[in-house]
Amino acid sequence: MSAPEPVDLTVADLHPALGDPALTSMNFLNEVSERYPAAVSLAAGRPYEEFFDLAAVHRHLDTFHRHLVDDLGHRPEQARRLLLQYGRTKGIVHHLIARNLAVDEGITVDPEDVVVTVGCQEAMFLVLRALRAGPTDVLLAVAPTYVGLTGAARLVDLPVWPVAGGSGGVDLADLATQVHRVRAAGLRPRACYLMPDFANPSGVSIDTADRQRLLDLAGQEDLLLLEDNPYGLFHSDDGPRPPTLKALDTGRRVVYLGSFAKTVLPGARVGYVVADQRVAGPDGRVGPLADQLAMIKSMVTVNTSPIAQAVIGGRLLEHGCSLVAANTRERSAYTRNLRHLVAGLTRRFPDQPDRPDRPAVRWTVPAGGFFVVVTVPFPVDDALLDRSGRDYGVLWTPMAHFYDDNAPVHALRLSVSAVTPEQIDLGLDRLAALITDEVARRAG
Ligand SMILES: Cc1ncc(COP(=O)(O)O)c(C=O)c1O
Repeated sequence: MSAPEPVDLTVADLHPALGDPALTSMNFLNEVSERYPAAVSLAAGRPYEEFFDLAAVHRHLDTFHRHLVDDLGHRPEQARRLLLQYGRTKGIVHHLIARNLAVDEGITVDPEDVVVTVGCQEAMFLVLRALRAGPTDVLLAVAPTYVGLTGAARLVDLPVWPVAGGSGGVDLADLATQVHRVRAAGLRPRACYLMPDFANPSGVSIDTADRQRLLDLAGQEDLLLLEDNPYGLFHSDDGPRPPTLKALDTGRRVVYLGSFAKTVLPGARVGYVVADQRVAGPDGRVGPLADQLAMIKSMVTVNTSPIAQAVIGGRLLEHGCSLVAANTRERSAYTRNLRHLVAGLTRRFPDQPDRPDRPAVRWTVPAGGFFVVVTVPFPVDDALLDRSGRDYGVLWTPMAHFYDDNAPVHALRLSVSAVTPEQIDLGLDRLAALITDEVARRAG
């Protein structure tokens, strides 16, 4: 028998978030993919890798360097320093982000209100860290919600209070009820986090009228809205996209969280936050919330890699600062895959009311984004995912990971972003076999 491994610390002596399901979720899902590398993965919400282009990364860097010299008038040594030295905490591509928001979203922002972050994940962390002032503070979040948000909230000891999402993306009556409940409990709702466009994991979007009502409600209740928008560009019809909350925001109610992971390159790890809320300091001086977030950032990551920012900046410059223009190929691939997945589900699970032996399987039909939610007649847990990978060769994500309680959830999330139509077909054949067998096993 081997000697027990020596132990120096226990998790119980570390921050309580460690060991919490919100923090272990991502690791678990990654581990399952590593365990079954040959399985078709409809689990990963990663962008399609065949579009990655190493040569383009070098070109983007050069493009941004030229921009520093030719457009901004930097001397060569200044430009070199800007790219290779420690740098401005709020970032060096803030002016291009502001231009991108104007071009693609009709959002007017002062570049000084932008903080460029290490992915959107850091942006969420900075905002939550700043908002959590004391033990009575809570964050509202539309459920199901992105697990990275829940995990970040745990790390700053900010409880997450769920708000019903429903088929419209946010249940406004429930939001009002929850705000009042939070206050009646002697707590302070600091903000409500939501993804108005093709949310992760639900795929649901909020319509324009409800966006306006949401802003009105936020105004009445003196509530901030944290708008996270990594998927908004990937809409599947050619009509106009609904305006973002930030574009409709006339009262500085919305903190806007951006990510370049899906629209440029996840490996660059660049995101940002627009935080134009005016904050009064102890000396009475007023500045943007962005400045306070930068103060926190200076103690977390110091500054976002300028080399990575330059790659993003170069890509923006090469497309007139339009990510819509830069992503035409990506949008059509994701749209095609989404349609293919929905058609494949329809073929494999036709409605057969006269066949009670057929499992009742339902799914969402999002108007864009990466995700479809499939509801099945049995609870979906991690053990079933493991069996799916091992015995059926297909991976997906249990929806239970996106709820902040331990209640059983009869649903799973499928992602279309990192696969081909052929892989979708294979994955759906395998998923259909799993569902049919699982129904039979439970019946029998
Ligand atoms: C809703 C949502 N927000 C934020 C992120 C994190 O983005 P980033 O990779 O820029 O940190 C993701 C990543 O999948 C996401 O789905």
